[in-house]
Amino acid sequence: MYCKKNLKKEVYGMKRIKIFDTTLRDGEQSPGCSMNIEEKVEVAKQLEKLGVDVIEAGFAIASEGDFKAVKAIANEIKSCTVASLARATKVDIDRAYEAVKDAKYPRIHTFIATSDLHLEYKLKKTKDEIIAITKEMVSYAKSLCDDIEFSCEDATRSSHYFMVSVIEAAIESGATTINIPDTVGYTTPNEYYDLIKFIKENTKGIDDVSISVHCHNDLGMAVANSIAAVSAGADQVECTMNGIGERAGNAALEEIVMALKTRSDIYEYETGICTEEIVRTSELVSYITGVKVQPNKAIVGANAFAHESGIHQHGVINNRSTYEIMTPESVGLRENNLILGKHSGKHAFRDKLQKLGYDLNEIELNRAFIEFKDLLDKKKKVYDTDIVAIVRNETIPYDEIVKLHAFNIHSSTETATSASVKLKIDDETYENVEMGDGPVDAAFKAIQRVIGVQIPLSKYQINAITEGKDAQGETVVKAEYDGLEFTGHGLSTDIIESSIEAYISVINKIMKDSVIYNEMKERLEQVKVQGVS
Ligand code: KIV
Ligand code: ZN
Repeated sequence: MYCKKNLKKEVYGMKRIKIFDTTLRDGEQSPGCSMNIEEKVEVAKQLEKLGVDVIEAGFAIASEGDFKAVKAIANEIKSCTVASLARATKVDIDRAYEAVKDAKYPRIHTFIATSDLHLEYKLKKTKDEIIAITKEMVSYAKSLCDDIEFSCEDATRSSHYFMVSVIEAAIESGATTINIPDTVGYTTPNEYYDLIKFIKENTKGIDDVSISVHCHNDLGMAVANSIAAVSAGADQVECTMNGIGERAGNAALEEIVMALKTRSDIYEYETGICTEEIVRTSELVSYITGVKVQPNKAIVGANAFAHESGIHQHGVINNRSTYEIMTPESVGLRENNLILGKHSGKHAFRDKLQKLGYDLNEIELNRAFIEFKDLLDKKKKVYDTDIVAIVRNETIPYDEIVKLHAFNIHSSTETATSASVKLKIDDETYENVEMGDGPVDAAFKAIQRVIGVQIPLSKYQINAITEGKDAQGETVVKAEYDGLEFTGHGLSTDIIESSIEAYISVINKIMKDSVIYNEMKERLEQVKVQGVS
């Protein structure tokens, strides 16, 4: 189900601003936000539903994983342009093209720095050399792909006249979009407005290409700067969901889109974003990365539409617009309804999911329905958010090499905690026991003992999905292996089970592409032969 707005013609008199989403490139690049290929594809599918114009799917040269993810997204996505980033070198551009070439609308996004600082200390190149490289590399990219975006890295600290020469070289060589990034989040709304105006007024050929803006949030002005640039004539805004990104992040997509929409009285611009998909997209990105959204975050924070004070509540009851400038429904915030009927069947369950915006295939639906029935036995009141948590937990596919079979915990204040964990691995069952500092520590140690590999965690976090002591606990764990970061999830009304599931899911993700699987199999063979573990 795609956003109908994509099919809609421009509203008369409103300029359509293109939304370039870089959650999967600039966002994912920031610490703690890594995603694997399946997770990136899931986010890309949701971005397509959200109605973004361009998905920057990754930096293909950065790693084999990045390359495969960009390629998988290029093959999957049909209604957005799919871009890959590339430095201004042939190897980068070749790799980017190889990754996006099968997309319905492929784009190569190549960049080179233009500030004196970067030229002197990073690139060690002269200005003439930068212009020559720009010409050569943009022409080369153009020989492969029609849609070429060119960025002047650190634009906001670059000499304006030099940048104009570089941009003219890029346009002459075939660039179709010119991006002016505030790489270090240094500019201010007025200054950025003037810069975009200056480029528009002084660059040959600029009216034949799109101007893009890309702001980082180091001074907390990324959204304001982006909107100032739009007012100055920018055609495309680069942003990320929840504002994730390098250091203080990138401009938040949801804030830019809702600011333009809510203040359409002063901004005569529209976007193709289906704003009702904003919350779902935000939740998915937060779930997959394991990075929680701060409660007071504009648009998507848990408190963004909450009215705590009596005066505000009174006003909102009489007329919502007293304290609400946009409706929760307009960003897709749902009411958290109680699910009645322990006896509801699969059809009713499917209907409910569709109302919540989830269209599952038969296998996913069956799995989620079993979990739902199971939850009804354990929890007195089941809410919409419980179902959404189940669906999230069930729909992102990963190979389950290791499965939890059973566990047994002995925990007391008098003796050390012990945990015995039984795992199913390739149809055989293995068990081990360990002592630990509390049940979670003991259980994780027992798992490590079974698989014979140490997988230390860099993050462990548990959150209740709803209120009440029978709430489902959603666990997020992160582990690093071979320089890569992996995220695991668990969901259960039993927080120990939820923690164990999360740990096992991170182990499974690591095993998929690493030697750990072979190490574990060797150890399990020994266990079988020696009869001990
Ligand atoms: O911030 C930046 O300058 C970038 C470019 C590579 C577009 O992310
Ligand atoms: Zn950036």
